[in-house]
Amino acid sequence: MLIRRLPDTLVNQIAAGEVIERPAAAIKELVENSLDAGSRNIDVVMRDGGRSYISVTDDGCGMSVEGLSLCIERHATSKLPSDDLVHIETLGFRGEALPSIGAVARLQITSRETGSEDAWAIKVEGGVLHDPQPAACNAGTRVEIRDLFFATPARLKFLKAARTEVSHAEDVLKRLAMAHPQVGFSLSDEKRTILRLPANSGDLFEVRLKRLSSVMAREFEENALPISAEREYLKLSGYIGLPTLNRGNAQHQYLFVNGRPVKDRLLQGAVRGAYQDFLARDRHPLLALFLELPSEMVDVNVHPAKTEVRFRDAALVRGLIVGACKHALAEAGHRASTSVGNAALGMLEAARARSEREGVRPSTEYSWQSRPSINYPSGRLSDAVMDYHAPLPGQSQSALPGAENFAPQARSGMTGGGLSEDTAPWDQGEENFAQVGSEGDHFDHQSHPLGAARAQFHENYIITQTADGIIVVDQHAAHERLVLEKMKAQMAEQGVKTQMLLLPEVVELEEDAAHRLVKRADELSELGLVLEGFGPGAVVVREVPAILGERANAAGLVTDLADELAELGETLALKERVERVLGTMACHGSVRSGRRLNGEEMNALLRQMEVTPHSGQCNHGRPTYIELKLTDIEKLFSRR
Ligand SMILES: Nc1ncnc2c1ncn2[C@@H]1O[C@H](COP(=O)(O)OP(=O)(O)OP(=O)(O)O)[C@@H](O)[C@H]1O
Ligand SMILES: [Mg+2]
Repeated sequence: MLIRRLPDTLVNQIAAGEVIERPAAAIKELVENSLDAGSRNIDVVMRDGGRSYISVTDDGCGMSVEGLSLCIERHATSKLPSDDLVHIETLGFRGEALPSIGAVARLQITSRETGSEDAWAIKVEGGVLHDPQPAACNAGTRVEIRDLFFATPARLKFLKAARTEVSHAEDVLKRLAMAHPQVGFSLSDEKRTILRLPANSGDLFEVRLKRLSSVMAREFEENALPISAEREYLKLSGYIGLPTLNRGNAQHQYLFVNGRPVKDRLLQGAVRGAYQDFLARDRHPLLALFLELPSEMVDVNVHPAKTEVRFRDAALVRGLIVGACKHALAEAGHRASTSVGNAALGMLEAARARSEREGVRPSTEYSWQSRPSINYPSGRLSDAVMDYHAPLPGQSQSALPGAENFAPQARSGMTGGGLSEDTAPWDQGEENFAQVGSEGDHFDHQSHPLGAARAQFHENYIITQTADGIIVVDQHAAHERLVLEKMKAQMAEQGVKTQMLLLPEVVELEEDAAHRLVKRADELSELGLVLEGFGPGAVVVREVPAILGERANAAGLVTDLADELAELGETLALKERVERVLGTMACHGSVRSGRRLNGEEMNALLRQMEVTPHSGQCNHGRPTYIELKLTDIEKLFSRR
């Protein structure tokens, strides 16, 4: 076998294979160059999804004619002045990007150096170099790429539809824009401006929040907690979303290391750790974290596209992220939502020990009203599901009060139970209660193991009395499961019934989210959700599964489904993941926390739970109720 040196063009094409995966990767390299050149404004244009044309224009330091001739040579860079890879302060450092692009496309660079009168242009086409020519150009640089991958046709075949390539580019640009909020960015295609982020000046923290809120979800700014923490040589700042603002995938979690957007499993693990008490496993918070550390403490030369880094002390970084997030979440006053009987007992035990120590008699000192009130978000849906509650045995559906009649039950933050004597439905509950444990008991504990509803507190928890203890039900979690199971059963029997919306609802989304939904519109309609595209970044929802009710929160539902679809990818038929998708829908059709129920409705919910499979846990795997046995309660009061 004859070993030979490969020609430069081939070497560059091989490098391009790693570095320039698709149009968005070329744009990333060019925009990073513009940022390294100190630009204030960077404008990107792509035509035909970047296949036929890409340009990146900046107002940075520009290049001299000598620089222009050098920059397209392999391993020519201005960014390693001291020949050392340890102190890298720039985004680029390999001197590879431009020659790689020049080897697979027709590349033209036009530049005018700051302080110079003359602009020059240079061309490389499929690795063939041309001499610099005088040109006209504002101060700064314009790089143009035509016919990307014409010299490596194999790559061309892997390109996706133009809109997909544009959305990848948009993602790349958004990430860089988050890390550089002072710099203005724009992205346009042949028809319109897709992204416009004006340059900002002022305090870094202020401009950063402004930039984040224009790039991330609209609600992010209102639901974000600031992070600011230091440990040894590490500095962490940024914003993390409240647990209530969550998504079905982790795509909206951003980490920046010394101004470089990185994808890092370390971050995902750390975030999961920080939020584990607050979120179900399959829900993900939104956040953007900026880590600053001395360049010698992180190796950026580990990945061809420079999107991964390696920390000298990964455990320290992880610890800082988890600690800072947990701290911020705790400050925000959010509690863990998981509670099982044992944990509850443990807490009660501790409370008892404490009050014994302090000599306080909790029974008189303690009142529900004196607890800090928690404001649960109450969706528009909260009362849209009345028709779902099954009537009590012996009662007709029409006997159920309408949603507007609940108010009389509301008293001093506690509803139903012994507090209310004046409403008929509750009287019956009272009767049940009175007869529990007495002779002539017609409340059948055998068939009603979840007991009789006694009260609802904090607008989400139902207390019931069972034969030998009490049960606390999380009404939202429980109802979510009921809706899911009912949808599954309905589907199996006769397909989903749909409910036409009186007013079709237009929901604005990110462009690719809207596209994902529209692409799956046929499958979604089989699941009861009828929608169609409405311009580039919106869908119009016409019908929803009937079970969600007429006033279903279409916007929330559709946003979550888009996330879900992104996660499921394109390969799986929705029918195969029907439980996940229905689960997402069910969540939007459930009685929200913050909804007052009367005794009748509470009991109806309990009876439904008893006959519904899997009703002991919600769709996210949390328990829907906890049970405390009387013997345990008696132990707490030292009666045993
Ligand atoms: N927009 C620009 N403005 C000013 N100078 C630029 C610009 N783009 C490239 N250059 C110059 O051209 C050189 C080569 O760019 P290239 O992207 O190929 O390599 P690099 O940025 O040094 O390293 P990497 O391959 O990691 O990106 C840069 O070092 C820089 O000096
Ligand atoms: Mg570069």
